[in-house]
Amino acid sequence: MKMQKLAENIFFCGEKDRERTLFDQLVPLPEGTTYNSYFVKGSEKSVLIDTIYPPKIDLLLDKLAEAKVTKLDYIISNHAEQDHSGALPALVEKFPEAKIVTNERAKDNIISMLHIAEEKFIVVKDGDTLSLGDKTFQFILAPFVHWPDTMFSYLIEDKFLFTCDFLGAHYTSGDVFADYSQDLLIAAKRYYAEIMMPFRTFASKYVAKVRDLAPAMILPSHGPIYNNPEFILDAYADWTSNDVKNRVLISYVSMYESTKIMAEYLKGKLEAAGTDAVLWDLIEGDTGELAMETVDVATIVIGTSMVLAGPHPAAVYATYLINVLKPKVKFFSIIGSYGWGGNLVKALDGLLTCIKPERLGDVIIKGRPKAEDFAKLDELAAQIVEKHKSLGL
Ligand code: FEO
Repeated sequence: MKMQKLAENIFFCGEKDRERTLFDQLVPLPEGTTYNSYFVKGSEKSVLIDTIYPPKIDLLLDKLAEAKVTKLDYIISNHAEQDHSGALPALVEKFPEAKIVTNERAKDNIISMLHIAEEKFIVVKDGDTLSLGDKTFQFILAPFVHWPDTMFSYLIEDKFLFTCDFLGAHYTSGDVFADYSQDLLIAAKRYYAEIMMPFRTFASKYVAKVRDLAPAMILPSHGPIYNNPEFILDAYADWTSNDVKNRVLISYVSMYESTKIMAEYLKGKLEAAGTDAVLWDLIEGDTGELAMETVDVATIVIGTSMVLAGPHPAAVYATYLINVLKPKVKFFSIIGSYGWGGNLVKALDGLLTCIKPERLGDVIIKGRPKAEDFAKLDELAAQIVEKHKSLGL
């Protein structure tokens, strides 16, 4: 594979990794991911922007060799996480003259994770520039989208903005440029939920900042390049806003169908009242899709069977995950069924430390639902519908 020309003296030299199924041992990758790296050749200096996941280093080195890149002056590291920085040791060995250009926080992280000598670094601050001769980079520190060390690199003359993880997607279809499909939008939303949603306030701020910059192209380090930046900026403006949809996510785990019957009944009642509802089986579904479903729902209902004297571990995991992903959910309820005793609510409530949705009435029943239990679900559905109306939904 060759480097792909994006503009005069600007090249894509990243790789698609369709075999990878899991990121950070946590995030499912239904279609793999990409590690985007870029090479920019100025009239005096040349630079590589971000590197590659270390097991793929030979592919990057082959591309550079094929393009007869024998000297690198700089390697810009926008973020220290090792899917982008992990190949730095191999690159500084191959190109010993290269300096790593990054910010103070990223430098500290890279040194601690990769043991690279301090003298290999040039540290930049917000607004600093780096001249390549006829091309100039400006650095924009963007902490907490998603690590404290994240920064963007802006190629001023070409108006190309390199955003590292921000505005990315685990999307491997098509060319290096965005296809602006519904599939891409879903992949980008899923990625936002998994990676950026915990930092929604910061993400919102940087969406506005990127808009003000009006780049001609957004070049993330995962997924396609946007030569129409409005596509991804509009999507992020929606996801990061305070607005929620008239929609309920009912995530449930059911051992002997009682909780499933409750979940399905609640969904039916909500839909009959004009409120969209989605059922999510916590055993069958993948957690990335669960995360994506939380992005803009107004209400989340957790459904769980009793295991021993508490909620099913799948419900505990889902509640913990939802809590740390920090969706903008406004209302929360628990439904479930027990056999002989215990408490389904206390352990789940105790997990909601990062988000504080309004707690609605819970419906906890003994055994298979009876008429009086369905009546309680009717009340919960009516309460949810009223709450959504109170938000103007
Ligand atoms: Fe793609 Fe935060 O690394």
